[in-house]
Amino acid sequence: MSNNVLQDNIDKAQAHIDSKKEQAKQGKMRQRYHFMAETGWINDPNGLIDFNGKYHFFYQHNPYDSYWGAMHWGHAVSDDMLHWEYLPLALAPSEPYDNHKEGGCFSGSSIVHDGKLFLIYTGTTNYGEGFIQTQNIAYSEDGIHFTKYENNPVIQAPEGVPADLFRDPKVWKHGDMFYMVCGASRNKRSQALLYRSADLYHWEFFNVLAESRGEWGYMWECPDFYPIGDKFVLMFSPMGGGERSSVYLVGDLNYETGKFTYSVSGEIDWGFDFYAPQSFLDRHGRRIIVGWANAWDWMPWWKDWGPSFTEGWCGAFNTPREVMLCEDNTLRFVPIKELEQLHCDEVLRKDMVVEDTPMPFAAGDGVAFDLELEVDLAGTRADEFSLLLRSDGQKQAVITFDLKRQMMYFDRENSDGWSKGCTKSPLLLADKRVMKIRVLSDQSSIEVFTDDYKTNHSCNVFAGNGQNQNAIVAKNGELKVISLKTWGMIKVMDEK
Ligand code: FRU
Repeated sequence: MSNNVLQDNIDKAQAHIDSKKEQAKQGKMRQRYHFMAETGWINDPNGLIDFNGKYHFFYQHNPYDSYWGAMHWGHAVSDDMLHWEYLPLALAPSEPYDNHKEGGCFSGSSIVHDGKLFLIYTGTTNYGEGFIQTQNIAYSEDGIHFTKYENNPVIQAPEGVPADLFRDPKVWKHGDMFYMVCGASRNKRSQALLYRSADLYHWEFFNVLAESRGEWGYMWECPDFYPIGDKFVLMFSPMGGGERSSVYLVGDLNYETGKFTYSVSGEIDWGFDFYAPQSFLDRHGRRIIVGWANAWDWMPWWKDWGPSFTEGWCGAFNTPREVMLCEDNTLRFVPIKELEQLHCDEVLRKDMVVEDTPMPFAAGDGVAFDLELEVDLAGTRADEFSLLLRSDGQKQAVITFDLKRQMMYFDRENSDGWSKGCTKSPLLLADKRVMKIRVLSDQSSIEVFTDDYKTNHSCNVFAGNGQNQNAIVAKNGELKVISLKTWGMIKVMDEK
């Protein structure tokens, strides 16, 4: 009975998407190679999985408007995480525990069991006395059409955890048991709660995997937990963590006690637009993460839903990144190699000296490009240097590498007439002789990577095609460039 309601609500939403998607494609801010929904609102990546030979991305989705509300799960598949085919919505609000216009089917994950694809998600509802979040299950034989489990919810908020701060289950299997980590808040401090189950349906609380003493906010959204090498990683997005939007901890897990002890912490991305990353293990054994390239209204730098809002859509994903463990147990986040398939118009320049007059360079059409810069630090006398990106001579994004103070900045105050703020982070220069920088620019985003992909800043910049000039400039002395390589990026989104 209720699964008929689910199907009706999916059909209704699908018809709405079909009626709006051509209009959304006309949007001037649409990304060319970063994942977006066909129309409407998108936030967190959900249920990422490599299943039956295809990459499946699900996503938090409001198909009816370009702002958040009544969460559905969108669904798309791909062979390479670049070329996408949209499938019917996987989940829509339909049950008392997930049917609310300010609730719905919130974030979660997926797992294959008994040949079926299972989605484990948070149902959010409100019976009149505040929001209630519970963990729920849906399953599918074909990986396209899902049935909600008749005995949902499978987990309710435990004693001491407010019912509106208990969400985002990430599930995995170890040995014969299933495990799940869930974001929660207790006494105004964040927690990652660990559950376990023998059959995926019946869950018992196991332990507090890790918790904040206040330094990482009051609520961890979208926790994710996975092994890498001989270590374990806990990732989360803290609410109330100041300018932090995505944190990782590296340590050890004791499967006997369900306790995670960590010795290393770091920022996955220091930018304003990287949130709620989720990971999955792919066919090549790579641990890949995908983040939501946007910000919430409760974040200090939030302004409004941005220029794409009026085009009938809002939100995109960051480029998928492969997680790699370093010798010192810190992590690197390297954009997937598949991106190279989109390269065109390669230009390589070598051995250049840059001074305080900006030196323009070609990079594809100046809007969508990939860039690799190698700087000879040993031969450089400049105090700092900057990349002046997506410029029209007036507006531009300024990415500065301050060698003297060992800091990096992404200044978008004057980048597009809308965006605000300047991100900052330390640079790991140490006694490095060569510094490498990578930039991925798309219609409305710029992702900058350095320090071997340990220091990353991803920010949205809503710049039209007229902002297509790019340059490099130094301050107080010469900058020695070993090489500057650029490629244009072929458009793959909105092409079908
Ligand atoms: C994170 C988040 C999750 C929640 C979802 C709702 O961005 O707030 O905690 O499940 O978005 O759309």
